[in-house]
Amino acid sequence: MESKSSPPLHHNQAANNEEVEDMLSSFPKERGILAPYAYQYQGFWYYSKQLPGIFNFQKHFQPRKNDIFLATSPKSGTTWMKAILYALINREVYPPTSPQHPLLNETPHNLVPSIEFVNPSEYDSISNSPDSGTRIFATHTALVSLPKSVTDNATSNCKIVFLCRDIKDNFVSYFHYANKLNLRSSPISLEDAFNLYCKGITTGGPVWNQILAYWKESLENPHKVLFMKYDDVKNEPQVQLRRLAHFLGKPFSPDEENRYLVDQIISLCSFDHLSKLEVNNTGKNRQLMSNGAYFRKGVVGDWKNYLSEDMVSRLDQITEEKFHGSGISL
Ligand code: A3P
Repeated sequence: MESKSSPPLHHNQAANNEEVEDMLSSFPKERGILAPYAYQYQGFWYYSKQLPGIFNFQKHFQPRKNDIFLATSPKSGTTWMKAILYALINREVYPPTSPQHPLLNETPHNLVPSIEFVNPSEYDSISNSPDSGTRIFATHTALVSLPKSVTDNATSNCKIVFLCRDIKDNFVSYFHYANKLNLRSSPISLEDAFNLYCKGITTGGPVWNQILAYWKESLENPHKVLFMKYDDVKNEPQVQLRRLAHFLGKPFSPDEENRYLVDQIISLCSFDHLSKLEVNNTGKNRQLMSNGAYFRKGVVGDWKNYLSEDMVSRLDQITEEKFHGSGISL
């Protein structure tokens, strides 16, 4: 896996504002969907607030044995999978039915931070699995831009779980999120958002290229990268949860199966349950985004309520062309 050149930061020095401004001014810039502008870095688009975190990640992150990265295309169910991973990894110390379970009082985004918003000085102190010391981070960063220390089998045994979603549902969710977040001076129209999405200008996008890279890596390196789809987790949650647990080296034991741990984690993390908790409806997370913005409908196929026939055929055509011959079905 080859990484393109990193920005010119000095070793052991977190990105400062001036350096970031300098770098941003040298990157291709386009109108964005979530924020007024998006910047292209190593072939993928990001918002200005994410890039310093990516530069720091590339320069300063030291992987530890058993680190887990949840990589996602935004609006593919990151919040859900953060909760599932947290509940799965911590199931011994926090049984999923415990009235003291951290997910009842803390948002998944605070329990599993997105590395783009973690300061390098906090990398070491992140501890979201008290008994095993496993760190779980999420990221929207494209595979090519992950630090080599994370992706290289020879230097670390970090696991990467990649999650994506039906492209049409992904777009519809992205569009709604943009207008919920309110980072723009005025709401974006469905048509405008659609055209930018088709041009690939989404966080970590073009979404197709991001998915393809993780997909190929999951085929070449199945012990390193697990490729998951929101739609599969919705349709067969037990199968997917067991698959995930097995990949992470924490398969459910016969005793846990007998105690219905799989079903308990699924119900703890279900849309109905999490979306009704007060913590997920009030306040902001560590990324300073409103907690409520991450829960909308949580269903498969909502695109049918929003997309015109032309939009459907254009998105399907791009998806078909991009994934042709890859073996991905989305
Ligand atoms: P919709 O907008 O289609 O409802 P992300 O977490 O990557 O930002 O993705 C958000 C999408 O996941 C939203 O999709 C949201 O409603 C859905 N979602 C959030 N929590 C979920 C859960 N526990 N189960 C299923 N879907 C969930």
